[in-house]
Amino acid sequence: MSAIIPSQARMSAFLVKMRAIMEQTQAKRIVPVNRIILGITGGIAAYKAAELLRLLMKQGMEVQVAMTEAASHFITPTTMQGLSGKPVLTSQWDDAGNGMAHINSSRAADAIIIAPATADFIAKLAHGLADDLLSALCLARHCPLLVAPAMNREMWQNAATQRNIAQLLADGVRVLGPACGVQACGEEGMGRMLEAEQLAQDIAAFFQPKLFSGKQILITAGPTYEAIDAVRGITNRSSGKMGYAVAQAALEQGAEVTLVSGPTALAKPQGAQVVDVTSAAQMFEAVKQRAADCDIFIGVAAVADYRIAQPGTQKIKKSTETLTLELVPNPDILAYVAALPNPPFCVGFAAESENLAKYAEQKRCVKNVPLLVGNLAQQAIGSDDNELVLFDDSGNRVLPRADKLTLARLLMQHIAQLYEGADQ
Ligand code: C5P
Repeated sequence: MSAIIPSQARMSAFLVKMRAIMEQTQAKRIVPVNRIILGITGGIAAYKAAELLRLLMKQGMEVQVAMTEAASHFITPTTMQGLSGKPVLTSQWDDAGNGMAHINSSRAADAIIIAPATADFIAKLAHGLADDLLSALCLARHCPLLVAPAMNREMWQNAATQRNIAQLLADGVRVLGPACGVQACGEEGMGRMLEAEQLAQDIAAFFQPKLFSGKQILITAGPTYEAIDAVRGITNRSSGKMGYAVAQAALEQGAEVTLVSGPTALAKPQGAQVVDVTSAAQMFEAVKQRAADCDIFIGVAAVADYRIAQPGTQKIKKSTETLTLELVPNPDILAYVAALPNPPFCVGFAAESENLAKYAEQKRCVKNVPLLVGNLAQQAIGSDDNELVLFDDSGNRVLPRADKLTLARLLMQHIAQLYEGADQ
């Protein structure tokens, strides 16, 4: 538990070196580019489409905007052209090419996303109408269609809309939302379009390759809490964000995920089986019960290295005497799993404050795991962004600074490659 405080100069030199490697890696784009048609129909939520466009482009997607005539009453094509850097498709009739804009554009897309999708447009999709460019694009598509409904709560609840939504689902259309909340009309209920950030995340999740279909992945996350007495304890500043992001990425890539989580304030990843624990001993028990049944084990948790030998059952009273606490080592959960007779593919994490490469490689050898993910504690703990260095038999690879979910998705793709290689 003792922290080593590195000298300022050594730390700066290390960070400069790390940054140079990361910038080189950044030049090679890692995130695949997906070609999207963002269709906007005429609802007040159209203003959120500008932010959605920005977020999709930030994720490396190539976005072509198409708008209905009604949409242009809520947000202008000029705004969307300015943001996307491309002329917006608005009409079937001003195509300068072969007059087949609906065919050409839909063939060039990996997916069409309608956000917002009005009740009227959803009805058109359900019935296969094609009386404007956007509906014709949808009818002529080869690619998946995702819709984000946005409408008044009565319109959403109306039997006709519910019939149309059921039809879209039966046709294989992905429906994102809607959410519940205050509506532009002042009423409150179901029908609000999901926020741009949520939509961007759902769309990115949709594109994740399903690399782990049928695989069981066991993940530990968060800090542990070691009781000193009835009210006090020893813990660390791990937020659990990286472990939860890894669980989310594994789910998106098709895995069945069990997340053994220390105390965190985070929302549970939907679809994961979550086992809440407090101490390292409880985390160890939870992992021991499940390790033999998993294909892959990823230890992201910041497990306390020591626990109090004899925690008090009551609150220790203050006195003028020096208080000495006896600490005993906790079991190493990752090393235990890696040493099982028929171990799952094991991945460890190392948060270091200096000498990342040296310490991470040492941990990989000592714990005998094929992949160890290194990060700098001072950059990683509690923050939304991180930088990772992956250490495996073939050397190291840097995943440059990004939000933790983006990094987790790339990490899972790397794990899939190693796991496939190890399986053969
Ligand atoms: O704490 P340390 O740097 O050794 O952690 C490296 C890896 O080992 C992490 O993946 C962590 O989850 C795991 N670990 C563990 N049990 C411990 C200590 C660490 O599983 N008692």
